[in-house]
Amino acid sequence: MAKFDHIVILTGAGVSAESGVATFRDAGGLWEQHRIEDVATPEGFQRNPALVYDFYNQRRAKLGTVEPNGAHTALARLQAEHNGRVTLITQNVDNLHERGGFSGVMHMHGELTKARCMACASVHQWMDAFDGATPCPTCTHTALRPHIVWFGEMPFHMDMIADALGDADLFISIGTSGNVYPAAGFVQEVRARGAAHTVEINLEPSAGASLFAECRHGPAATLVPDFVDEILGD
Ligand code: APR
Repeated sequence: MAKFDHIVILTGAGVSAESGVATFRDAGGLWEQHRIEDVATPEGFQRNPALVYDFYNQRRAKLGTVEPNGAHTALARLQAEHNGRVTLITQNVDNLHERGGFSGVMHMHGELTKARCMACASVHQWMDAFDGATPCPTCTHTALRPHIVWFGEMPFHMDMIADALGDADLFISIGTSGNVYPAAGFVQEVRARGAAHTVEINLEPSAGASLFAECRHGPAATLVPDFVDEILGD
């Protein structure tokens, strides 16, 4: 395995699937049970806030019943043992990368465990349920919303992400179907900026599989630890 300095990783729902967290587009996934326009858009929240609060309260409560899997802990081991930089960008809103030991995760689609006040813009760590009657701890207005990026909203950390993609020596995409931009275009940004090696690790070929120099298809909890061993030269 060549020597890589800056390793940039993008993860999607597939990295948490073996922990028992539902993905979006697999059979039985979240978008089979709910319409995106009802629970993951500003318009849906405006139309029926109770439905949206409940959707995220249920997913937040589920976090207490699942554990990180071998893919999460392997990425934390890579961060701890790689003598170079490791940047982790996730589309996921669960906290399993952190609970698996990775620090400094960039949640480009937000986090289930945070609430944001629409009155004062303060963001609060929040593990329990909340709704339109819950007062903001900072300004006391009842204007809290999930700190989640909905369709049509700007993902978080895009400047830092662009810098990382332009500086990557190895780009690894794990557990994402490659259906949603801007994340689905990251591999093209990496390829346009330099000679980074690009690897897809996914249960099956994603929509962007042909854009990667290397593809490894199978369960992340098996393939990611193996790949981390190769990178670390174990
Ligand atoms: N190991 C590896 N990959 C897996 C596993 C597994 N055990 N199980 C499923 N996958 C793969 C699926 O093959 C699929 O390609 O994970 C991918 C999950 O795809 P999606 O459900 O579309 O999830 P994701 O790509 O993260 O969605 C991106 O879409 O709805 C929005 O905001 C939401 O962040 C989400 C974004």
